Amino acid sequence: MTHSFPFSILSLRPGRIFLSSCSVAFIAGWFFSTALIWTQYETSDAEAGLSLRDVRWHFSGNPFQNRFETMVEGEMLEYLTIEEDANLLRQWSIQPNLPDFSEPNHKQFYQDNIHPIIELDCLECHEPGGKAEESPLRSYDEVLPYLERDRGIPIPSLLKLSHIHLFGMSLLLLVTGALAFSFLSPRKAGILSSLTGLGLLLDVGGWWSTKFFPETAFLVLVGGSLFGGSFLLTHLSLLHRYWRSPSSPHDH
Ligand code: HEC
Repeated sequence: MTHSFPFSILSLRPGRIFLSSCSVAFIAGWFFSTALIWTQYETSDAEAGLSLRDVRWHFSGNPFQNRFETMVEGEMLEYLTIEEDANLLRQWSIQPNLPDFSEPNHKQFYQDNIHPIIELDCLECHEPGGKAEESPLRSYDEVLPYLERDRGIPIPSLLKLSHIHLFGMSLLLLVTGALAFSFLSPRKAGILSSLTGLGLLLDVGGWWSTKFFPETAFLVLVGGSLFGGSFLLTHLSLLHRYWRSPSSPHDH
């Protein structure tokens, strides 16, 4: 029996192996990104697990801390050679807000104790040419702005993140949708693909709305789950479809 494209691919074993390996790679990618998202957001608040508050604080900032403190206790903690230094950095960063702490002392303490730590553990990225060159930490004056209330991810970082994410994910969406409409029933493909697309838009839109309206953080969780869930389901359905009925497009 002969079949027209794209079902002709399924009538050959190597064709099925090729399509399956694509879906398996997508599913593996899904697991790695989920793990990555978990570890990155999880540190936004001090409690274990990914919560709405982690998402809120990641984008709009922890209202009870300064930016330096948040980063030193969270995402930047792993870069400290001596983990206990986090406490020293933190103590120093909240000093300007304490009464009876005159600025010269604060600056002197920076020169003697803080700068050597930053130089050793942080400047590799936080100076021109480094990964975080947009937030240099070479001197007292450069560090000072980060001692103000944490306002979450800076707009330039969010722009970069959105741009990379939207272009990358829309290609993923397009490929996944094309496969779904080729091999699954039109109804199933339609539902799964539109949920995936909707989830992506809701997710990235939610980042921006959470940045300015922290109470909308649920959009990120709903969008992310919708995108991730329907993406995973599409590839699992495709795998099932590839191997279920040898070479016959019954349900099409
Ligand atoms: C391996 C590279 C790297 C090292 C080492 C590193 N950082 Fe960072 N840091 C980054 C990146 C990248 C960002 C930007 C994150 C973002 O865009 O949200 C960042 C962001 C920050 C911010 C927030 C900047 C902002 O504009 O809001 C602070 C504060 C900070 N780091 C402090 C530190 C401190 C203190 C150390 C040393 C203990 C350190 N970092 C070590 C890469 C690094």
